[in-house]
Amino acid sequence: MIATVTLNPSLDLNLEVDELKIDDVTRIKNTKLDPGGKGINVSRVVNILGGPTVAYGFIAGREGGQLSLFLAEEGILNSFVALKEGNTRVNVIITERKTGRQTRINAVGPRAEVEDLETLKERITRLGGGICAVSFMVFAGSIPPGLPSTTYRYLIEEVQELGIKAVLDADGDPLKYGVKAKPFMVKPNTYELQRLVGRELASEDDVLEAAKEVLGMGVEVVAVTRGGKRAFLVTKDFVLACDPPKIEVVSAVGSGDSFIGAFLLALYKGMGYEEAFKWGIAAGAATATVPGTGLLSRETFEKVLAKVEVQRLS
Ligand SMILES: Nc1ncnc2c1ncn2[C@@H]1O[C@H](COP(=O)(O)OP(=O)(O)OP(=O)(O)O)[C@@H](O)[C@H]1O
Ligand SMILES: [Mg+2]
Repeated sequence: MIATVTLNPSLDLNLEVDELKIDDVTRIKNTKLDPGGKGINVSRVVNILGGPTVAYGFIAGREGGQLSLFLAEEGILNSFVALKEGNTRVNVIITERKTGRQTRINAVGPRAEVEDLETLKERITRLGGGICAVSFMVFAGSIPPGLPSTTYRYLIEEVQELGIKAVLDADGDPLKYGVKAKPFMVKPNTYELQRLVGRELASEDDVLEAAKEVLGMGVEVVAVTRGGKRAFLVTKDFVLACDPPKIEVVSAVGSGDSFIGAFLLALYKGMGYEEAFKWGIAAGAATATVPGTGLLSRETFEKVLAKVEVQRLS
């Protein structure tokens, strides 16, 4: 199984309008409610591509119940810890048809207590990964109010002790502290990597140097994605580069999550790093062709995959 942990998931309300009018009434042309949160996106991508996945994390209130139901309807196994108070957040994404502009209105999310974290820890460390055997466990997204920035570090240390490979996709302090647990893999974009190493990364050489610095912190695989620009996969044995295919970009929200889902599924299926890197790049690009918070389809993924090439730099 590929497990994901989302501490601050959401329901994403996607509204399509012709044009957002301020101080006036705007009519909605299309409404779509999607499960959201970075780890949940990873689980959905693995599921769309036909792989086995389980989603862990926190939910709260009726919105939380709805989130769990959404995932179950898609056939995604999930086992969330229910917080005692509050509601799972609802984010609003408004896309204007006329301009293509996107306005995101994000909620903070319910407060989690340290005892909730303990319950979650017990759940994901039971039987080598919780309710089923887990090969990879992805920790992705923000940490909810009430829990320290060291939360990922704590959880990653616990699960890696069981032989599970942890993958961390976070930003700022949660990433900085999380790396101290020596996760198997991290997948920063340029901005996240800049904040992690504490300097601006202007050139490709700067990015590669920073990725190697992260390897030095004890991480085995560093994948740096840079939107439509060349991505890198760096380990102590090799450096791979890949130019994302030219596609018609509609919304790259969730592209990074799609990269992680497809990359891990390929490794899980026994493919090598080069092929897995192709899978990740193709999945990210395929998701970028879908509006709003929507994710890739298997058909687009396969079409894009055929166009992706990976180069070995060293
Ligand atoms: N404009 C684009 N053109 C082609 N491919 C893209 C584009 N944007 C994203 N991708 C694909 O998706 C991958 C991941 O994208 P990106 O670097 O934007 O991730 P991210 O910043 O972590 O995104 P998020 O966290 O919102 O999911 C890229 O490496 C690339 O393969
Ligand atoms: Mg990302």
